[in-house]
Amino acid sequence: SLKLAIIGGGSSYTPELIEGVLKRLDHLPVTEMHFVDIEAGQHKLDIVAALARRMVEKVGANIEINASLDRRAAIQNADFVMTQFRVGGLQARANDEQIPLKYDVIGQETTGPGGFAKALRTIPVILDICQDIEALAPDAWMLNFTNPAGVVTEAIQKYSRVKTIGLCNVPVSMQMMIAEMMSCPPDQLSLECIGLNHLVWAHRAWIGGQDVTAEVLKKVGDGQNFSMNNIFEEPWDPDFLNALGAIPCPYHRYYYQVDAMLAEEKASALEGGTRAQQVMETEAELFELYSDENLAEKPKQLESRGGAYYSDASLNLVDAIYNDRKTIHVVNVPNNGTISSLDDDAVIECSAVVGSWGVRPLAVGHLSPAITGLIHQVKAYEQLTIEAAVEGSYDKALMALASNPLVPDITRAKAILDDILRTNDDYLPYF
Ligand code: NAD
Ligand code: G6P
Ligand code: MN
Repeated sequence: SLKLAIIGGGSSYTPELIEGVLKRLDHLPVTEMHFVDIEAGQHKLDIVAALARRMVEKVGANIEINASLDRRAAIQNADFVMTQFRVGGLQARANDEQIPLKYDVIGQETTGPGGFAKALRTIPVILDICQDIEALAPDAWMLNFTNPAGVVTEAIQKYSRVKTIGLCNVPVSMQMMIAEMMSCPPDQLSLECIGLNHLVWAHRAWIGGQDVTAEVLKKVGDGQNFSMNNIFEEPWDPDFLNALGAIPCPYHRYYYQVDAMLAEEKASALEGGTRAQQVMETEAELFELYSDENLAEKPKQLESRGGAYYSDASLNLVDAIYNDRKTIHVVNVPNNGTISSLDDDAVIECSAVVGSWGVRPLAVGHLSPAITGLIHQVKAYEQLTIEAAVEGSYDKALMALASNPLVPDITRAKAILDDILRTNDDYLPYF
């Protein structure tokens, strides 16, 4: 039997997770799912839990659905703890996206100063959750989906004893999109992924023993669909892709095409607001649908969110661990020598073998300085961000922003930091 605890159960993504569980019952004997949320999320939690019960009943599964604000009860004896919460809700995300734009800097949920602010709010909460896991379910695996997933996972690795794996749907989406453009079944395509979360490259792509990297780069340069719902699909320069020699992820646009992405963000902020505003509307629609007592499945409309394949990514990991599959997944785990120039305890995102014993990353060999340079710069920003969050250090927070490649100048770094600290006052216990 398997107990899953889901922190942030009121998320609109939860029906997808339930669908993923129901699809796998022949090899994942889930007997209990406990959804936990906070008071502000009680209403969403109730709606999601009722839908979950209808979905379970429809297929005649024998799964106990619990929903409560009692985090400790949820974690007690859990085999897997999945985290999908958002400290401060979508209003905090809207602030994260808008503040940097005032200073002509990319305003994004996970990348640049927006992701920095989200990390400052999230790290104290996640470390608190980890204390509960250490006490109540010390053998549980924590699958961390909470953004910025790489930074949050590194904080857990460094400041707790919880066994954790960070995960993101971007690598799975890249797999699906590249398979589509190569007209090949997804399971016949192999990608060698390495980098950081939302800064991951597929270094090589293989189909049937053939290296097809150059062909994929050509198709991406020709403008074939290669983005996520939440990222503007700015076309890639074919000469740049050819010179880079590795397949960038959709988020790389924020680093390699700053001017165009910033211009697009500013234009859409003036029109209909930032992505957070769009997501607020989508979410209201989704919860309206979820409330329908005749609905007993995941509605199609959920696909307009950016988190496509989230439940496959996480439940395939549960499967690999529980059933000792030794299959390859893209995960966020400590580097441990995989990128030779990077600290062992720096969390990277990479292809790795996963079994009941845990995760073993796959090295990809030599990386060009263009790639290691960016990885090191962003990792410096991430490490300073974690230390700033844990210590409540203004100096480290300032140096974190000053080290972020998207923040071009310290006067602006300081103005953005002060704005973030002022705006997030309620959520920053250590500042
Ligand atoms: P959301 O705004 O719906 O938040 C989910 C729930 O978390 C809400 O019901 C909220 O009340 C609850 N919550 C807030 N603080 C909490 C706390 N301290 N304890 C327990 N619950 C709490 O968010 P969402 O859009 O569903 O996204 C959830 C999270 O997943 C975000 O952090 C988002 O960035 C992340 N996400 C990650 C990926 C990825 O690739 N890793 C993909 C999509 C979403
Ligand atoms: C992608 C990313 C996630 C991010 C999401 C945003 O899937 O991998 O990390 O949270 O998009 O989607 P949204 O619909 O919330 O804008
Ligand atoms: Mn992600």
